[in-house]
Amino acid sequence: MMCQLVTGGAGFIGSCYVLQARKRGVRVINLDKLTYAGNMDNLDALRGDGGHVFVCGDIGNAELVAHLLDSYRPDAVVNFAAESHVDRSIMDPEAFVRTNVLGTSTLLRVVKDWWHTLPPQTAAAFRFLHISTDEVYGALQPGDEPFAETTPYSPNSPYSASKAAADHLVHAFHETYGLPTLVTNCSNNYGPRQFPEKLIPLMILNALEQKALPVYGKGANIRDWLHVEDHCAAVARVLEAGQPGRKYNIGGHAERANLDVVRAVCAILDDMAPSSQGSYARLITFVADRPGHDFRYAIDSTRITEELGWKPKHDLDSGLLETVRWYLDNAAWVEHVRSGAYRQWLVRNYAGRA
Ligand code: NAD
Ligand code: DAU
Repeated sequence: MMCQLVTGGAGFIGSCYVLQARKRGVRVINLDKLTYAGNMDNLDALRGDGGHVFVCGDIGNAELVAHLLDSYRPDAVVNFAAESHVDRSIMDPEAFVRTNVLGTSTLLRVVKDWWHTLPPQTAAAFRFLHISTDEVYGALQPGDEPFAETTPYSPNSPYSASKAAADHLVHAFHETYGLPTLVTNCSNNYGPRQFPEKLIPLMILNALEQKALPVYGKGANIRDWLHVEDHCAAVARVLEAGQPGRKYNIGGHAERANLDVVRAVCAILDDMAPSSQGSYARLITFVADRPGHDFRYAIDSTRITEELGWKPKHDLDSGLLETVRWYLDNAAWVEHVRSGAYRQWLVRNYAGRA
């Protein structure tokens, strides 16, 4: 049985990856610090599953990471752990440097030291896969070619700058030490279990509470939406067949202006959960723009499609329908996230443990 050390596996994308990996029979050691974005409810389906070992800890804790590598001897490390929200990076850039840059740097160093002790065949088969973002490439204007793997880095927010720094470190560990690394750069994910600070879940939950739907600027900024399950399937494929030292862009082929996405969410809610006060679209409120707001992201996924045969399976229209349905059907998840009840679970579960 394969064994993978997955970091950030209690977050939105990491938990989806862990659930898929368990379905494939991969043993998962899940290292997550359980920041505000980490949520054990995301892993509910794995309760009692002996093939999933959850460890609450920081990727920057060298001793802990070394201990996990020695104890479980994973075939791969998949690094999802990060501070991931652009608006938070504008308020507190250093938290992003700590985890995304220093944390990744420590993780790389400890993995590299352990990897050097492996027998040659095991070392050759080992992989370190780092999850990055399309934001490292900067901003596109309408009509520009989508980002390719060769597009120069030009990050504009503290978040994207920290992710770019991490990508450079991963590349350096491949070039300098020969560590078999892979980097994936994906577009905006959406789907079940996304923390409601991000555009789509924020709009769904605000609408249901009859709160304003805050659209930055004129809502003209464009994102390329990728279903989280398609993203995680792509990551698994890169791990399986990607060429060490290489980068792979992953996109949803679904570019939309933010205002169109918000209107689509409102239209779905009008249908699924009609309000007696009229269409949810009446709640759309234009607010001050995000500083340094990148205008457009779009991904050219030719490499992963041609080399590895991956393509997204979800289209945005049906993916959005299914996502809104998930939030309507999972009131307990929503309530726990809102009330912070999953934090109480953390205190209860870990209090007094070594
Ligand atoms: P998320 O914020 O939902 O989850 C991040 C997870 O990492 C949380 O469970 C958190 O507890 C954990 N974590 C944070 N700091 C940690 C640390 N120091 N040590 C261990 N665990 C830590 O993020 P997400 O949206 O699931 O994103 C996952 C990865 O994908 C990130 O690297 C992000 O940059 C990247 N990414 C996200 C998107 C997107 O649209 N959400 C798009 C492109 C790339
Ligand atoms: O492109 C990949 C990136 O996508 C990931 O690397 C990030 O981790 C992820 O958070 C996401 O970044 P964005 O900034 O694009 O996502 P967010 O959901 O915050 O915003 C999407 C768009 O919607 C963006 O143009 C800003 C806008 N927006 C966002 C919020 C939260 C609004 O108009 N109003 C809002 O309230």
